Amino acid sequence: MSENREHFSSKLGFILAAAGSAVGIGNLVGFPVSATKNGGGAFLLVYALFVAFICLPVMMAEMAMGRNAQKDPLGAYKALAGEKSNWKIAGFLAVLTPFMIAVFYMVITVWIFGYLSQTLFGNLDLLATPSHFDNFINSYTVFGYMAVVVLIVNLILLGGVKQGIEKAAKFLMPALFVMLLVLVGYVLTLDNAMAGVKYYVIPDFSKMNASVLNGALSQAFFSLSLGMGILMTYASYISKKDDIVGSAKMVAITDSLVAFVAGLMVLPAIFSFDPSTDPTKLSDSSVSMIFVYLPKILLALQNDIGYFGASAVAFSFFLLVFFAAITSLVSIVEVPTATLCDRKNISRKKALGILTLATGLLTVLCTMSFGMVDWLTSMTSYGSGSKSFFDIVYDVFYDTILPLNGLMVCLFVMYRWKKARLTAELSQGAPNYAGSLIERYVNFSLSTFIPIILLVIFINTVATKFFNVSLFGF
Ligand code: TRP
Repeated sequence: MSENREHFSSKLGFILAAAGSAVGIGNLVGFPVSATKNGGGAFLLVYALFVAFICLPVMMAEMAMGRNAQKDPLGAYKALAGEKSNWKIAGFLAVLTPFMIAVFYMVITVWIFGYLSQTLFGNLDLLATPSHFDNFINSYTVFGYMAVVVLIVNLILLGGVKQGIEKAAKFLMPALFVMLLVLVGYVLTLDNAMAGVKYYVIPDFSKMNASVLNGALSQAFFSLSLGMGILMTYASYISKKDDIVGSAKMVAITDSLVAFVAGLMVLPAIFSFDPSTDPTKLSDSSVSMIFVYLPKILLALQNDIGYFGASAVAFSFFLLVFFAAITSLVSIVEVPTATLCDRKNISRKKALGILTLATGLLTVLCTMSFGMVDWLTSMTSYGSGSKSFFDIVYDVFYDTILPLNGLMVCLFVMYRWKKARLTAELSQGAPNYAGSLIERYVNFSLSTFIPIILLVIFINTVATKFFNVSLFGF
């Protein structure tokens, strides 16, 4: 099967696609806000260390598994561990997780697309009214926007690896970089912009505590698409000649750089709008920042550049977020798509048809869980209180299972597949890897403290999320 498996046309194509997956909504608003609230430069520094020393080895391990097996995640675990091995449970989770994350991410991408369209129609003033967001997410127009987003994602995925995923990434990612830089350039000219930059970059080490460290690591882990089966799937589309070690570094650098630069757009905008903003009071939720807080700021730009100008900036901003979201969505739907194609030997078209129905149904249920339908809105209650269907999908898959999947990758690669095979795989395309300091670090960290840290994060998340018990006093 691997001879006729489609491959990315180049290493650059792979890097852009993987970076496109990693760069998402969270990079653009969530990251900058949480950095500012949690110690500015101190957070940035700790985050960078976590990316380099904890996330990168996991990323290389996932990529090595995918490329070696040339299969989807479930197929990869089965191929590398044996058809009968219980490790297929890990493979199953590595496919179920992206399937469910696709559902919740689709809901948010649809809202972004709705806001993008509204700015195009000249309705920025409407978006900035306080009750708009609640009304919008409970209106049936959401389903119209959903149809368009589903169509876009399917059109990209139908094109396959080269003509679909790679081509889209090669257009969307450079466009995203350019728009981001232009917006940063504009925002930095606003009054008081520098106050925001200061809060963002000046380190305040007094804010560092166990909870901040845990948050920074989780964020780095999620942001890099780890534990989602995505990197395994994308790496199954690269050739043995490609350098995984170098590519993984590039993906991590691109993702972190976009997140960092996004801060130079978001924080100056916030501080020029209101110089007396108390950064610790900014919302932790990217959703409320993007859909409630930022539209107000974008509208206020009309004092500077008029309503049309403000609408143009708002349009660029939502387009930027939309592009970031689409490349992530494409990557996450590709995992179950690849699994269906590989496991059931069906065409992409058929696999996408099945997935559109399955994720479509769940996405509709999630969309209706913000008040449209009562039983979906308050489905159950655990931890901090009543939970909607959307909350459950988010809490279980995005917050809880991801570190568990990362833990499985570490344990599998180190103790079942074994270090020597990992080194052999990573050395293909990176001949200097074997025997290098990096190799020693990767093998040591993946077999010792990284799985322990991931296990602690997993246990702590389960305890706090579902039982309202906070371990370690945070
Ligand atoms: N960095 C992404 C974000 O900020 C998180 C993410 C990584 C993601 N890979 C993804 C989300 C794939 C959805 C699908 O949103």
